[in-house]
Amino acid sequence: MAAIQLRGVVKRFGPITAVDGLDLEVPEGICLGLLGPNGAGKSTTMRLLTGQALPDAGELRVLGHELPADSKAARAEMGVVPQLDNLDVDVTVEDNLAIFARLYRVPDVGAAVDRALDLARLRERRRDAVDELSGGMRRRLLLARGLVHEPRLILLDEPTVGLDPQIRTELWTLIGDLRSRGTTILMSTHYIEEAERLADEVAVMTKGKIISRGHPVELISEHAGLQTAEVYGPPERLIEARATAEAHGLSVRPAGPAIAIVGSEKAANGAIPDDAVVRAASLEDVFVLLTGEEAE
Ligand SMILES: Nc1ncnc2c1ncn2[C@@H]1O[C@H](COP(=O)(O)OP(=O)(O)OP(=O)(O)O)[C@@H](O)[C@H]1O
Ligand SMILES: [Mg+2]
Repeated sequence: MAAIQLRGVVKRFGPITAVDGLDLEVPEGICLGLLGPNGAGKSTTMRLLTGQALPDAGELRVLGHELPADSKAARAEMGVVPQLDNLDVDVTVEDNLAIFARLYRVPDVGAAVDRALDLARLRERRRDAVDELSGGMRRRLLLARGLVHEPRLILLDEPTVGLDPQIRTELWTLIGDLRSRGTTILMSTHYIEEAERLADEVAVMTKGKIISRGHPVELISEHAGLQTAEVYGPPERLIEARATAEAHGLSVRPAGPAIAIVGSEKAANGAIPDDAVVRAASLEDVFVLLTGEEAE
């Protein structure tokens, strides 16, 4: 049985179709990275899975529970880490955890809080108010709070958005630990590196739909090939190099100050300038080609 099964799911907000006939299956025990640009519908998908939003059409099944009818039972078995920090700033670190442990009817609240504090490495800060914590500590607490009842399935919505690189690496370690323990993870992100490092499989989402899915290595070989050639220089030169490469049937994408010519191993003589910098094809190439958005 898949942990998550969505079929033909639609969610509209007035004129906006945030989720547009989404099919998504997440088998148990994997970390699936939902990779998509801003506004792709990632958070809306998460909110449908938690019962915080109601679908306009489609079938949703989570851990064997039909949604939205059984969303309460499904919620009890999953852990949720929202994109926006919604910690209670008026109570201490440990009380934030204890409140959730009671909400989830964890039998031994004290033990659950201690376990979560260890996970977040916040034992020494347990009696501090949340607004005395650093940004990274708050983020670790938010993650630990979602895990306080040891769920089999966890939804992480942009777990490291807006964090500095050191904190991001810390959280990656925490998420990597969960993954190796066999927890099923659905993680949305728009950071390519996050998906590449943590996800067993990546589903590329744009405009409310999954447009491609697979192991990062498979996605790269399917959509980008082996090598990418980057060309640097003044805009006129890039325009000319792009036109030449495209005339030879190659895909080209913007890459900051450069252009990236994808699948350069297949290029005919003269299709790519001699001074192009050739590197291995990347998931970023795939993301930009498929979504038309520059990656972060
Ligand atoms: N409550 C709402 N009311 C109206 N429109 C909404 C609401 N929630 C989401 N939307 C719209 O639905 C679309 C998808 O939004 P969503 O938050 O799911 O995207 P996302 O992939 O999570 O993006 P981001 O990477 O920026 O978090 C957007 O156009 C957004 O403006
Ligand atoms: Mg979002």
